[in-house]
Amino acid sequence: MSHSINMVLIGCGGMGRSHMRRAREVSELTFLGYVDAAEEAAARACQEFGGRYYTTDVDKVWRDDDIDAVLIATHHDSHTPLAIQAAQAGKHIFLEKPMALTIEECLAIEEAVDKAGVKLMMGFKFRFAPLVAKVKEVVRQPLVTVGQSLHPAMKGWPLTPDKGGGPVLSNGCHAFDLVYWLNESEPVRISAEGGALTHPEFGLVDNAVVSVSFENGSIGAIIAGDCGDARYTSKFFFEVLDGQRTATLYDRCHKVAFGGYEIDSFSLEDLPPAAQSDPEGTRAELQAWARCLLDDTDPPVGPRDGTRATAMVLKAFEAIRSGKAQELRL
Ligand SMILES: NC(=O)c1ccc[n+]([C@@H]2O[C@H](COP(=O)([O-])OP(=O)(O)OC[C@H]3O[C@@H](n4cnc5c(N)ncnc54)[C@H](O)[C@@H]3O)[C@@H](O)[C@H]2O)c1
Repeated sequence: MSHSINMVLIGCGGMGRSHMRRAREVSELTFLGYVDAAEEAAARACQEFGGRYYTTDVDKVWRDDDIDAVLIATHHDSHTPLAIQAAQAGKHIFLEKPMALTIEECLAIEEAVDKAGVKLMMGFKFRFAPLVAKVKEVVRQPLVTVGQSLHPAMKGWPLTPDKGGGPVLSNGCHAFDLVYWLNESEPVRISAEGGALTHPEFGLVDNAVVSVSFENGSIGAIIAGDCGDARYTSKFFFEVLDGQRTATLYDRCHKVAFGGYEIDSFSLEDLPPAAQSDPEGTRAELQAWARCLLDDTDPPVGPRDGTRATAMVLKAFEAIRSGKAQELRL
């Protein structure tokens, strides 16, 4: 591949547009096209961010030999068909979270990507948040990991069973992925409590308290849902403890407090300007995506990471439904 990667954005809503603003800072990525089921959304993105075309017809992208890769930021029900079609057309894929609505769909995407020999990177941006790297540096092997993704009451399609999967899957998957990432050990058993507490009309688990056992013997706890505004800890909050050191990541990953370490705290202001301006890793993840394509290396957050996060959430739902801990072997 040359020094620039030609891409198309599929899904020109809130997150797609947010990626486009960040992509302006990543010179290796050039967006040539915009696809959306709503033509005006695609047209607006094309006008604002620049490109050759906009369309509602995704087949145009699959036929376009100038396109190396796509960024998919659509509703969750379309992630599987779009990712599989992209793979079959030989396009590399940056896929927003969650990977898909079921474990079977995730495995089908994995298979399609594998078969086509294309790369797929998942949009778990917090892995690239600079203070997450700091936490991993200080507490390398936690015994206990806590993660929280608690939103104010959500609205719209993410709550629906067919398009979104509810707040725990839609947004909580970030916390499930990061609790895994802070351990880097496979989750093997999941127990949970929860229910349709905030949106009973959808009948989905919308708030859950989950416990996880990891292969290496460590344990994790995750609270995810949309039961309110967690003002002090912020929407996203993580804590790792290893028996000697503690790191508490709060204020939406902008600050860390340490226990048992040479400094008591660390915040974004202690980092170089480039890192300060990327607190949630949204620029760094696109840079990493470009790098893996240009260097022909594995994406740092691959298909298995997408499958794992969705599987952790869905096993938690199963644990709530059945009242029994669920084994997880991928
Ligand atoms: N990483 C993050 O922090 C983060 C934050 C918000 C959303 N997201 C993810 O980004 C994705 C999009 O979320 P959003 O908030 O931008 O939603 P949105 O509703 O604002 O935008 C989605 C867009 O996709 C279009 N669309 C839906 N199905 C389509 C299809 N089959 N083909 C073409 N276009 C289609 C819609 O018309 C809409 O314009 C989701 O996966 C969501 O979970 C990630």
